Amino acid sequence: MAALEDLDKLLQTIPGLEVLDLNNSKGHGCKSIVYDGLYLFIPPLVLLERRNPFESLQSIKETEMKDDDVIICAYPKCGTHWLWEVIEMLKSGVIEYRKETKETRMMEAIFKDGIDAIPTPRVLNSHLPLRMLPKQIVEKKVKCIQIVRNPKDVCVSYFNHYRDMVQPFGFEGDFAEFTEAFLTGKLCYGSYSDYLLTWKAELEGSPAVPVLDLVYEDMKHDPVKSVKDVARFLGVTATDMFCEEVAHACSFKKMKQIDKDRKLGIPVGIWREDAEQTFYRKGEIGDWKNWFTVAESERFDQMWNKKMKDSGFKFSYTPF
Ligand code: A3P
Repeated sequence: MAALEDLDKLLQTIPGLEVLDLNNSKGHGCKSIVYDGLYLFIPPLVLLERRNPFESLQSIKETEMKDDDVIICAYPKCGTHWLWEVIEMLKSGVIEYRKETKETRMMEAIFKDGIDAIPTPRVLNSHLPLRMLPKQIVEKKVKCIQIVRNPKDVCVSYFNHYRDMVQPFGFEGDFAEFTEAFLTGKLCYGSYSDYLLTWKAELEGSPAVPVLDLVYEDMKHDPVKSVKDVARFLGVTATDMFCEEVAHACSFKKMKQIDKDRKLGIPVGIWREDAEQTFYRKGEIGDWKNWFTVAESERFDQMWNKKMKDSGFKFSYTPF
């Protein structure tokens, strides 16, 4: 693992790496690179192997896709880890947790070489827009599964993620400051609203790409139904009982425990040492109520709705 205190030094040794400070007026903000107009985290491999980040990211587009690939496409904190484990179990037909983390299948973390090295069948994932993903997704009509989540819980989850990250990547401001960055897109992967609108437009331009749309809140409400929907979309033969077992094995409690006990870590230390260091925080619908004041919540709604009111996206903000 790269020593955390070396990160700043490491950054200076990477060719072509321009790191941007997205600081607010209080001097708080994350650091990121800009690729094709999008703010991005500096991928761990770029750091470890001192790669040129832009060549590496560009290589993703030329990656060969296989007919049985599946790609999870989601904005950060919408439930990618959860969905990844569900799909891996459905594809393998056994209730067995992957030893690797989902990050080992994340396209913008491993690039073309890393993707090529994964044995089939592959369950890949990415937070990137379609235009930055392999061109063959469109050409070969590779199956994509999208998961979305209500933006207030995404904002809270992303804040906690950022707060726990080591400098220079973490966010040192408070929740209100982060919310501002979240709504204005001054953070890695840009704004959630732009992510949703961009994908929507991209799919309208490529209607032949098969996409299953999932919603985090629906999956929480009725996980067995969501598992069955995924199985059907993938063309996997799975009994009702197996789908129930998958849903149970992938409950938040079980996955949090497995992550602690068994998962192999990420090769670069992205978490602060005093943080919980997990992607499994609370796993609930409506935690945002513990974070937003009434005024903040109203302002959030106002700004979100201004941009998204005609988008067709509707979210549940409380458990049902
Ligand atoms: P919270 O921070 O609100 O707890 P991603 O995997 O896309 O990074 O999303 C992370 C969010 O999904 C975190 O939300 C995490 O706790 C939640 N999550 C992970 N596994 C889950 C599961 N099995 N059931 C419900 N939520 C889960």
